[in-house]
Amino acid sequence: MSEFPKLRLRRLRRSEALRALVQETKVDVGDLICPLFVVEGNKIKQEISSMPGLYRLSNDLLPKEVEEIARLGISAIILFGIPRKKDEAGSSAYQPKGVIQQAIRTIKKTAPDLLVITDVCLCEYTSHGHCGVVVDGYVDNDKTLELLAKTALSHAQAGADVIAPSDMMDGRVKAIRQTLDGNGFQHIPILAYAAKYASHFYGPFREAAESAPQFGDRRSYQMDPSNWREAMREIEQDIVEGADIVMVKPALPCLDVIRKARDTFNHPLAAYSVSGEYAMVKAAAQQGWLDEKGIVLEMLTAIKRAGADIIITYYAKEAARWL
Ligand code: PBG
Repeated sequence: MSEFPKLRLRRLRRSEALRALVQETKVDVGDLICPLFVVEGNKIKQEISSMPGLYRLSNDLLPKEVEEIARLGISAIILFGIPRKKDEAGSSAYQPKGVIQQAIRTIKKTAPDLLVITDVCLCEYTSHGHCGVVVDGYVDNDKTLELLAKTALSHAQAGADVIAPSDMMDGRVKAIRQTLDGNGFQHIPILAYAAKYASHFYGPFREAAESAPQFGDRRSYQMDPSNWREAMREIEQDIVEGADIVMVKPALPCLDVIRKARDTFNHPLAAYSVSGEYAMVKAAAQQGWLDEKGIVLEMLTAIKRAGADIIITYYAKEAARWL
């Protein structure tokens, strides 16, 4: 190995062309998934106060939005629903005419090539805001599985392309896979929120989706941010149960976990740059405290460099314009 002065690492940084030639990580618009919040009702466009620039949209306003997303070259969206009615069992989550089921049909009619991924969870649909059925103050794992599978099936029947369970119940990937397969949806992939931490970075999302737990917190099902080995066990389990793509969430606080997952597994790997990540950058940018475009592209690059193939980001539309 040569050393200075024979070795000069700055030689390859001298011009734009040289830097481009040796660039190791590139973010492509095709790597990005754009989240969308769909609210039940008509003519509703409500800005999410902790996520400036992002809106809850009703079904009738979706065509315009997804046309723009598709025009920007983004190939996938992930849907979150805000139903009119919530109850103990989250029953609006699995109605054939539920908010998400209708949104899927509208979007598929407008932009048939846009991949529609649906988040499968009960927290937006339960009156208590937990991700499953609550029995004696505790989220009952096995009772929840049935409802998640029902929800996933109703999404597939409405035309969803990919099912993404985010609830963190044990066995949900298996239950969903079995239900999809038993109903002729063998071809629908599962993107599992495999290593999902109980993170404070989800705060703005819970405002957006009106899904904050009404008592307690999510630490009996989401993971402790202290743990990375447990994340590998979660990912392994989801793969064993049939996940096609696995995800680490949140992204920026978990770059080490993303790297570890990339080195350990060969499945396509997604990372979710969550609402709190968006809110932090947006707030600072609005104050003029940092260069928004520079920060966002650097964040996305860092997440890819850590090993993610796919990034869910609220900055998808802006990034598509910048890239
Ligand atoms: C539903 C769900 C959440 C997020 C994605 N799916 C909220 C939560 O688990 O509390 C968070 C996304 C974000 O913060 O951007 N369970």
